[in-house]
Amino acid sequence: MTDQAPAPATAEPVPPAPPPVAATPVVERPVLDGAGMDLLFREARTHYAWQDRPVPEATLEAMYNLLRMGPTSANCSPARFVFIRTSEGKARLKQVLSPGNVEKTMKAPVVCIVAHDQAFYDKLGFLFPGAELRGWYADNPALADATALRNGTLQGGYLIMAARAVGLDAAPMSGFDNYQLDNLFFAGTRWKSNFLVALGYGEAAALPPRNPRLSFDEACRFE
Ligand SMILES: Cc1cc2nc3c(=O)[nH]c(=O)nc-3n(C[C@H](O)[C@H](O)[C@H](O)COP(=O)(O)O)c2cc1C
Repeated sequence: MTDQAPAPATAEPVPPAPPPVAATPVVERPVLDGAGMDLLFREARTHYAWQDRPVPEATLEAMYNLLRMGPTSANCSPARFVFIRTSEGKARLKQVLSPGNVEKTMKAPVVCIVAHDQAFYDKLGFLFPGAELRGWYADNPALADATALRNGTLQGGYLIMAARAVGLDAAPMSGFDNYQLDNLFFAGTRWKSNFLVALGYGEAAALPPRNPRLSFDEACRFE
């Protein structure tokens, strides 16, 4: 008998607490300057017209090396990324795009498939050593799928911000057939597509005016 309530079927494992440390003295934290905030948020836009300028592989690698540091539950890191650059890859992708997304996607220098590995838990021994978390997910497919989608989506968001941080523009898209894409790109694997992100150097002159955002009072509340 235990006095602890059983964990609900979709609860994630709680990793062991780290050992207590001495309280950090209060010091002024550095914050991003205005130019950095503009680059990542205020001036960044979703582009659909692209300069005729290639994206170096090293830039994509730098982007990945930033985004991989974003947090995921139990450090599970389920996202997988496929960078489509060739005309052969784009021709395959074209078949599954919504008609309204075809032209802009075909013209992007790089299109990233943001996917996740449904068997992400096979890497937990490396990603979260010492806690034996694999079975928690491997024995509970509903929890594993929810965890892969939630954290893979977060990592796709980190990718958009990391792209901006390394000087790229990013255009996320969900207007395509995930089932067909998975058959074309991920047959025989446990990878599943989530959304696409076109990457390159945007043509600012082609941008429509920015749509408004919700104010703090509309979108937030205190409890
Ligand atoms: C998950 C996601 C899916 C999207 N899907 C599409 C799409 O299929 N086609 C499209 O033209 N734009 C798509 N967008 C782009 C959004 O409409 C755009 O990012 C939003 O209006 C903000 O534009 P802004 O960054 O220029 O302010 C998508 C954006 C996100 C985040």
